[in-house]
Formats: sequence, structure tokens, C-alpha cells
Amino acid sequence: MPKVTFMPLNKTVEAEEGLTLLEISEEHHIGLEHACGGVCACSTCHVIVKDNTDDNLEEMDDDEIDTMDKLVANQTLHSRLGCQARVVGDVTVELVNWPPREL
Ligand code: FES
Repeated sequence: MPKVTFMPLNKTVEAEEGLTLLEISEEHHIGLEHACGGVCACSTCHVIVKDNTDDNLEEMDDDEIDTMDKLVANQTLHSRLGCQARVVGDVTVELVNWPPREL
């Protein structure tokens, strides 16, 4: 099973291949923000992929690209939306909106 590391928590969990980063976060109580509920409409789940592990996420689809372009002002070459990015291998991501507002 892929290992997913969430920064800045430095917490690594094992995850079923094909789940989104948000689904994995919810399963392990990580606290990835998701104001729209994970329907690709808010960008609060913005993460930055670290350590050149980008290829271990499925490629972005058009919806994710559109939302990123419209809503993410601080987008980087390694930016992804956690509610859309599906894990296919070991990956490290930094949560941009950390700590989550509800904590
Ligand atoms: S949770 Fe809103 S875009 Fe991902």
C-alpha cells in the first residue's frame, strides 16, 4: 500500500491506492481543509507535493486544472487539490492551509 506523508505534521500513513488525499486525511484525522466538501469548488484543500513524488498521484483532470487556475493565487508547479488528487504510490504533501480553521 502507498505511504502518504502529510507535512508539516510529519505524519505518515498507509493508504489504499486510488483514494484521494482528502479521503486519506479524513480516514486518519489529519485535518486537510475542505470547505466545499471535496467537490473541487473551493481550493482550501490546496497541497504542495514534495520530494519529487508528483508522479505518484494520478494526473490532474480538467476540473482540477480549472479550479486551480481560478482560485489558487499561490499556485506552484507542484500544487494539487487534495480532494481530487488520487494516490498511486508513495507521496509527500505539504498542507497549505494548516492548521485547519476548526482546530
Ligand atoms: S475541498 Fe474544495 S476544492 Fe477540494
